Amino acid sequence: MKFLIINGPNLNLLGRREPGIYGEENYESLCARLRAFAAAYGSTAECFQSNHEGAIVDAIHAADGVYDAIVMNPGAYTHYSIAILDALKAVSVPCVEVHISNVHQREEFRRRSVTAPACVGQICGLGLYGYEAAMGYFLGKK
Ligand code: DQA
Repeated sequence: MKFLIINGPNLNLLGRREPGIYGEENYESLCARLRAFAAAYGSTAECFQSNHEGAIVDAIHAADGVYDAIVMNPGAYTHYSIAILDALKAVSVPCVEVHISNVHQREEFRRRSVTAPACVGQICGLGLYGYEAAMGYFLGKK
């Protein structure tokens, strides 16, 4: 399978950003781990990160017909980006939404995802393992 891993704003700061919530592993290490995980299953994973909503919309559009699955952590855009919701609805690539933290144990505003309705499902609170769990879901379906 060809995976596209999309990470939204501030996730480039993994390892430095609120490590008590998001852990100590950095973004590059996460990507290396996901590429290795994919390779172990004869698959590929490409990582894309942006702090800009439009760039994420563009990446979703460009994924159509190119990738088999998207694993996306939209970061704070989760809670208000109708543009990302619409982009996911506009393409036929299935997406699983991932949140590193348990958004239900945090501020009220983090409980609502406007993007999840366009996803197959949502994983939260499992730390960085959530990305692998999402990939495992797709691998089990192929
Ligand atoms: C997050 C949760 C969001 O509320 C937050 O804005 C993030 C990260 C998570 O992975 O837990 O940037 O998506």
